Amino acid sequence: MEKPFFESPTPDLSLDRVDGRVKVTGAATYSAEYRFDNLVHAVLITSEIAKGRISSIDAKTAGAAPGVRAVLSHLNSPGVPGYGPAKQPAERAPLGTAFRVFYDNLIYFSGQPVAVVVADTLEQARYAAALVRVQYEQEPHRTDFEANQAKAVLPLGVQRNKTSPFQDYQRGNPDAVQTAEVRLEATYTIPTQHHQPLEPHAVIAVWEAPDKLTVYDKNQGVKSAQGNLAQAFQLPREKVSVKSPFIGGAFGSGIRVWPHTVAAVLAAKHVNRPVKLVLSREQMFTSVGYRPYTGQKIAIGASKNGQLTAITHEGIGQTSAYEDHLERTILATRALYACPNVSTGYRLLNLDVNTPTWMRGPGDATGMFALESALDELAFALNRDPLEIRLKNHADSDPERNLPWSAKALKECYRLGADQFGWKNRGLEPRSMQQNGMLVGYGMASSLYGFHRHPSKAKAILRADGSVIVQSATMDIGPGTGTAMTRIAANVLGVSPKKIRFDWGDSALPDAPGQNGSATITSVGSAVHVACESLKKKLSELAAAMPGSGFTPAGADGVTAKNGKLFSNGDLGGGIAYTDILAFHRLPQVEVTEEARSGPERDQYSMYSFGCHFVEVQVHPLTGEVRVSRVTTCADVGRIINYKTARSQSIGGIVGGIGMALMEESVMDHRYGRYVTQDFATYHIPTQADVPQMEVLYVDQPDERVNPIGAKGLGEIAIVGVAAAIANAVFHATGKRIRKLPITPDKLV
Ligand code: MOS
Repeated sequence: MEKPFFESPTPDLSLDRVDGRVKVTGAATYSAEYRFDNLVHAVLITSEIAKGRISSIDAKTAGAAPGVRAVLSHLNSPGVPGYGPAKQPAERAPLGTAFRVFYDNLIYFSGQPVAVVVADTLEQARYAAALVRVQYEQEPHRTDFEANQAKAVLPLGVQRNKTSPFQDYQRGNPDAVQTAEVRLEATYTIPTQHHQPLEPHAVIAVWEAPDKLTVYDKNQGVKSAQGNLAQAFQLPREKVSVKSPFIGGAFGSGIRVWPHTVAAVLAAKHVNRPVKLVLSREQMFTSVGYRPYTGQKIAIGASKNGQLTAITHEGIGQTSAYEDHLERTILATRALYACPNVSTGYRLLNLDVNTPTWMRGPGDATGMFALESALDELAFALNRDPLEIRLKNHADSDPERNLPWSAKALKECYRLGADQFGWKNRGLEPRSMQQNGMLVGYGMASSLYGFHRHPSKAKAILRADGSVIVQSATMDIGPGTGTAMTRIAANVLGVSPKKIRFDWGDSALPDAPGQNGSATITSVGSAVHVACESLKKKLSELAAAMPGSGFTPAGADGVTAKNGKLFSNGDLGGGIAYTDILAFHRLPQVEVTEEARSGPERDQYSMYSFGCHFVEVQVHPLTGEVRVSRVTTCADVGRIINYKTARSQSIGGIVGGIGMALMEESVMDHRYGRYVTQDFATYHIPTQADVPQMEVLYVDQPDERVNPIGAKGLGEIAIVGVAAAIANAVFHATGKRIRKLPITPDKLV
């Protein structure tokens, strides 16, 4: 059946979400919602111990339970041919060649899948899963970050790669921090935090033929999932199809193919039926990664007038025992401020836990909590305004790479944000502001996020009826990709957004990167732009072949597109309708596929998104309850493609930052190496009542050097720095500096 065109009700510069209606009416199909007559259900059984071996699995009773088709484990798994030969657990695999599900009897973490039950109904599978008896030989485990951080090491992959950005870094003489006129040193801690998308991860695996696999999977990259599954099951890429058009939030949890997806594919093979597997909320804590527990030590030296003289920044992150996950934790410190003497160091601590993964603003959100808290501490020590300290140390060029910025309007962000927020009303002293019996505090922080752009393809099709279809195997995990791409195509082709359909989320579409690293607009948006320009050129050539058209085959530069028509430049006549061009040539459609990739500017300029956040908190003087009462955020992310969805991204990022600052903490009982936070009752995220009105501002100036559309990434920078701005506001309100998140009431009273 032909996919319907989405409705785009507001054809102005701020489109409503093109898929908003299908999402809110329930017409959008999410991974677990595809229907198959012979579908069966899978439920994972996970390890009860954190380290050791499975000594036996008794599945007799479970196997005889009603509706049960299989109990699959390492004992009877059909196997994953791409896993290759066994590795010692001590030999940590590079990222991506991770944990092998149902491979052998070794246990690396509590919550590890050890078996899967497949039955005709979900209830039968769940019941039978409770009947499976797994016996273990337990070994002592190590899960406590605080108790073990001295054992952190420079990751093997970094040791072997001398050009790794995670190598120890030094510029100037960082020892200058010891002799600085003003000096401070502090340790900042982020607990483990878990992505909590409302939609849990889910998969339906279908073997269409013994060598043909289709997977409906919640992930952030259909092409990378296709590649990973093809590799794992030793199939040609074109024999693996991955579909993931609608995603109920992900925040990084869907960047990889995780063991549960492979388990579903194995189960489908074993029972020769489509298998559905949906993670429980509890399983979400051990199946799809998390923001790692991280400790950071920062020392800052400055002159009495607030000029930074030296910064040293050391970060330790946790990872699993079988895989190294590295984050950008210390990297922003090298680039954000003009400081002559800087050193950074990064270490990993291998624990008996599952591997962490990227979570919105990965590394930077963590590192900037420390750096931007430390800057605030410095401002207090100097008795100066925190914004003044930032302005004084503004980096006019990239101090790390000695390159000019491609564009940077951070000073403009500071000015716009401070004006709108009313920063000038801030009293310098902590505890100097009160309102209705509450302590009031103002805090701010800078924000930055690196620019990522990957080669991307897009196909643009004009049909005889004047409608346009644009396609790319990109994703939408929530930001409104389809809407932004529709906007870009409409601008280039001069066609109403209502006549444009953008297709995404299917590995059969033209090659595109997954949605991560805030790279979708820059990568795929550029491809859509280039493909539509190319289509326009082709149409102008077809127009030139029409007698009396007045068009010369000069290419797209010589034409203007508007209202579904092409106008040759200088021609004041009525133009030629796209529909007439196709009708004249008797063409059912005209299509082009183009690839867009970075140009030489990538090496000539340093590219970042920039921004800042201003936050007001109100703290109850007796209970220590913190309320974020106002937020003003301003970002310089180049051109804003679609204001409405951009604003929504910024708001979502700040909500994530409120959670990070005040609530989110995955607590582990180290006696068992197991999380005691397993649901929304124990793992707190912000609700409506925790989120104030927000003011979202953009500089909205195109960065001409990054790509043809002048737009940079927004998704991650939205959260980077928010936790520091809140912690700084809490200090301003209370005089208490909280360096270990989250800032819960017990830390303030
Ligand atoms: Mo983002 S953590 O790159 O989904």
